[in-house]
Amino acid sequence: MQATPIQTLLTTVAPDTPVVAQGWIRTRRELKDLCFLELNDGSCLANLQVLVPRSSPLYDLASGLHTGAAIGVSGQLVASPAQGQRVELQAETITVYGNADPDSYPLQKKRHSFEFLRTIAHLRPRTNTFGAIMRLRNHCAMAIHRFFQERGFVWIHTPILTASDCEGAGELFTVTGWNLQNIPRNEQGEVDFRQDFFGRPAYLTVSGQLEAEIMATALSKVYTFGPTFRAENSNTSRHLAEFWMIEPEMAFCDLQGDMDLAEAFLQDIFRYVLEKGSSDLEFFQKRIDNTVLETAHNIIQQPFERMSYTEAITQLQKSGKSFTYPVAWGLDLQSEHERYLAEELCGKPVIVYDYPTQIKAFYMRLNADEKTVAAMDVLVPRVGELIGGSQREERYDVLLQRLENQGLDPAVYWWYLDLRRFGTVPHAGFGLGFERLLQFMTGMGNIRDVIPFPRTPDGIDF
Ligand code: 4AD
Ligand code: MG
Repeated sequence: MQATPIQTLLTTVAPDTPVVAQGWIRTRRELKDLCFLELNDGSCLANLQVLVPRSSPLYDLASGLHTGAAIGVSGQLVASPAQGQRVELQAETITVYGNADPDSYPLQKKRHSFEFLRTIAHLRPRTNTFGAIMRLRNHCAMAIHRFFQERGFVWIHTPILTASDCEGAGELFTVTGWNLQNIPRNEQGEVDFRQDFFGRPAYLTVSGQLEAEIMATALSKVYTFGPTFRAENSNTSRHLAEFWMIEPEMAFCDLQGDMDLAEAFLQDIFRYVLEKGSSDLEFFQKRIDNTVLETAHNIIQQPFERMSYTEAITQLQKSGKSFTYPVAWGLDLQSEHERYLAEELCGKPVIVYDYPTQIKAFYMRLNADEKTVAAMDVLVPRVGELIGGSQREERYDVLLQRLENQGLDPAVYWWYLDLRRFGTVPHAGFGLGFERLLQFMTGMGNIRDVIPFPRTPDGIDF
């Protein structure tokens, strides 16, 4: 007989049905004349309780199984007399795929710190928290695809290897085919990239945006969903060296349309997850942060706040707070400022728009005041920046000037400039940090704990 997922057994299969369940033992308890095995297969948070009476020929086998063992159980699913579960499984046969040594299996029945669990990222998916994170990642990914597919966006696949720095921030990982012990140099003693694999410097992408713009100026509405890489050496709870980003890009769209899409997008994701992932969300509400459900409901019920960067600076200066970093028009907002605006001032997500030109990337459209660009960031409580986006500079001359002002080589961006020569059009898009979304949704304090295998400065195990 084929095994049924434990989630299905617990919720829909009628009692008094013969079934097979497979999974890993979370705990084993012996009580009076019974051995109880709590079985989890990752299909849901809850465990299936397996019963083996002392009178059963399986009893000795069952009582020799330990936390972490992989087993299959066939038997009768019966109505459970115990509170909090609809059914339980009376074992008739047990197949042991692999036992786990109780003296060395690190996941024993006690609370482990997230720091410790990071050191065993190959086993932490078997904990309640990480199982729930992985299922919520899956729900969010499905919600995101559904949102765009229903609106006629085409999912495009942008390259991971690139020669251009999209954000112009110099946070690139270099990619080379060389043996680094022996790097070719030219007569002047400089590194000779002409001899490297691509014949020029190459990097891991920091964003798929520039290629998404190519596609949007042909397919009108597109989005990416892929990994991006940043060599920023910031050891914070909100930065990863490798993270997933979702980047919609729309032709015939301005900043207003971009902000409207970002708001509808986040609301839709939360609506979907409240529907499909409510038991996992409730777990985070109970165990991690008791505002998780309130946050989710507020997102779908209340419109976001919107304010210009200039207004945000005024509000920060009026706040009477003593921030670590200075607040002045022209300076970038630090995460403490972003959090004040979202958490304290607005108490909900706030979209800040029209940032000073000098603190934003070259591709953002210059406003009529020539001091600001049509950029927008969605800032949320606890996390700060969740989304960054803009209307793009579609005017050839202005774009060329911006590239030069920022010290970027227009020759590298020749194709990007071409888009402004042939059928240029107002267009806009944004990038959502997938892990920041999960942090915001679950209340998890550290971004390393919402991605299966975090890559951070000095961290690349697994
Ligand atoms: O604001 P960013 O740098 O914007 C871009 O990359 C644009 N090209 C997006 C676009 O307009 N298509 O990054 C977008 C988002 C941020 O708001 C943040 O949520 C996330 O990506 N992010 C990070 N997440 C984790 N670790 C990091 N090091 C991140 N850097 C950015
Ligand atoms: Mg940003």
